Amino acid sequence: MDYFICKPGTGVKGSIRVPGDKSMSHRAVMLAAIAEGESHISGFLQGEDSLNTIQAMQQLGVKIDRDGDRVVVQGVGLHGLARADGDLEMGNSGTAIRLLLGLLAGQSFDSRLVGDDSLCSRPMNRVINPLLSMGAVIESEDGGRAPLQIRGKHKLSAIEYDMPVASAQVKSCIILAALYAQGETIVREPAPTRDHSERMLRGFGCDVISDGAEIRIKGGQRLSACDIEVPADISSAAFFMVAASIGRDSEIILQHVGVNPTRTGVIDILRLMGADITLSKQRDIGGEPVADIRVRSAQLHGIDIPEDLVPLAIDEFPVIFIAAACAEGSTRLSGAQELRVKESDRIQVMADGLVTLGIDARPTDDGILIEGGELGGGEVESQADHRIAMAFSIASIRARQEIRINNCTNVNTSFPGFAILARETGIRININD
Ligand code: S3P
Repeated sequence: MDYFICKPGTGVKGSIRVPGDKSMSHRAVMLAAIAEGESHISGFLQGEDSLNTIQAMQQLGVKIDRDGDRVVVQGVGLHGLARADGDLEMGNSGTAIRLLLGLLAGQSFDSRLVGDDSLCSRPMNRVINPLLSMGAVIESEDGGRAPLQIRGKHKLSAIEYDMPVASAQVKSCIILAALYAQGETIVREPAPTRDHSERMLRGFGCDVISDGAEIRIKGGQRLSACDIEVPADISSAAFFMVAASIGRDSEIILQHVGVNPTRTGVIDILRLMGADITLSKQRDIGGEPVADIRVRSAQLHGIDIPEDLVPLAIDEFPVIFIAAACAEGSTRLSGAQELRVKESDRIQVMADGLVTLGIDARPTDDGILIEGGELGGGEVESQADHRIAMAFSIASIRARQEIRINNCTNVNTSFPGFAILARETGIRININD
């Protein structure tokens, strides 16, 4: 099991491009697979999560060739998928299992989705329930947990669904099932969440209507192959945004980052804390906004994080908590109970690690209260959560002693090459096993 040893550092410098966006990589392969014709994807994330999605689509009869971050998919059309030869391994990925469940719910064959211990402990009823009301037949373990067995040959009908949680995975699952349902499906979100599925489906020629909180999509629409350029993942860039903010004499440029407004909560939150962040070369690539992001050292101060920013920064809280630990004063987060059902319970696991490092961090049911202070050193547990492992390695920039971070293998699910890139910028990190 890999662990990181991070020595106290000073700051970071450089101009880097982090790997491709994970959310878009999953979606690009799934949509290209059910499109008609050959799609070309560039900038694809070569992380374990998105590679599992490629493998699953191949098992479902789709020809996919990959050369590094370039992927060519021979789409089989809306009704061209075939029964897989065995279980579909979703590994650690909530996005893969929830989106594929939607895609497979309306097929004419059975499928079984499996995953690792973390994934098998995460809630799936949030996607199973709306699919059951569309007419799908799905069996799960107790409490709506994976493995999930989907029984094919059941006709789906459109639904009108008010989502109880703000979740792009739930929304996207229903949208994918809606393609196979008779009639027009309407989904309403309680708060805006990432809209990559809607944008990408339009790129494939589908009519998806977004009207405020409502998304409407008619079943039976055919997708036409297209080319997709995946930008760098803002969720991976966020580690370096915080690194440059808390580091001494630091300046970093993050190239070609996806800055879709449903993902930029981390920039808004860090700016509210006093961060020096500027965007340049703003452009639109295939319906998604992209920019270079420059971040320089700044004295951060604690804030009450506005609740409306929570879904727009949902994956970035582990590293935002590190920023809060280095800020002057207290930072309060509430309305973020979703963090408790991510790859780990991110509120508890981050609080435990921060306390080990000498920070006053108090978890609440739906958030945390962090008093900025001096980071010491010690041994923290990532609980096999990739973003927690990376967040604590960023903390080392301001730590007075060495930090050992246990169980870091899963960093490869979203950010292969993280330690090498981090070292290039000045972070004193070593991988050990
Ligand atoms: C994702 C949506 C988010 C996010 C996850 C990726 C997606 O989950 O945490 O890492 O690609 O749709 P929820 O939508 O469940 O909050």
